[in-house]
Amino acid sequence: MPVTLGCESDRQSTPEEGCGSTARAEAETEVLLTGDQIERRVRELGEQISRDYAGRVPVLIGLLKGSVLFLSDLVRILTIDVEIDFISISSYRNRSTTSGSVRLFRDLDSDIHGRDVLIVEDIIDSGLSLDYICKMLLARSPRSFAIAALLDKRVERRAEVPVDYIGFPIPDRFVVGYGLDYRERYRGLPHVAALDAAELSGEEGGLT
Ligand code: IMP
Ligand code: MG
Repeated sequence: MPVTLGCESDRQSTPEEGCGSTARAEAETEVLLTGDQIERRVRELGEQISRDYAGRVPVLIGLLKGSVLFLSDLVRILTIDVEIDFISISSYRNRSTTSGSVRLFRDLDSDIHGRDVLIVEDIIDSGLSLDYICKMLLARSPRSFAIAALLDKRVERRAEVPVDYIGFPIPDRFVVGYGLDYRERYRGLPHVAALDAAELSGEEGGLT
């Protein structure tokens, strides 16, 4: 049990909760994809990617932070060797609707010139984030470029981005879990769930 230190911002917290509730708040969410469904689909995608990249060593680029669980499960399925790198952008000013602007927070460590690049993303919604990433990375002349997205909302697509590997199409609802967050919470859920509309109060901030 971690020792709870003084917390100015939240005097109401119990010692069990610390400075913010750690409860998984199952009651606030509706499961859309179970952990088993995700595991099966990630395995299929991993097998397909292994076949498609046979004999090559692609650079898998995870978009922080939402793709981390998907990427880590995917690489364990792959039967090819890969390199891993990360990029961090934010496309959301408001926490549950798209702002239309994209900012780069962290660039790649690796030089992708002449490399096979596979972007690994948690969810594609408006497409603006991936469109920004595509333009930025294609200018660096990779040998090939492809995108894997676990979830595809495909409702309000504002930029058409070719996604080569899609895990699941999902309805136009705000989802959390398996890496996806709302205000940095829920990322550790083993499933994907839609968040109750009452939870989405719309404070300013960035989603990654
Ligand atoms: P896009 O630029 O609108 O395609 O948004 C993509 C990014 O927005 C994703 O990488 C997520 O970080 C975030 N995002 C979009 N929809 C959701 C959602 O339903 N839950 C959590 N994050 C989301
Ligand atoms: Mg993201």
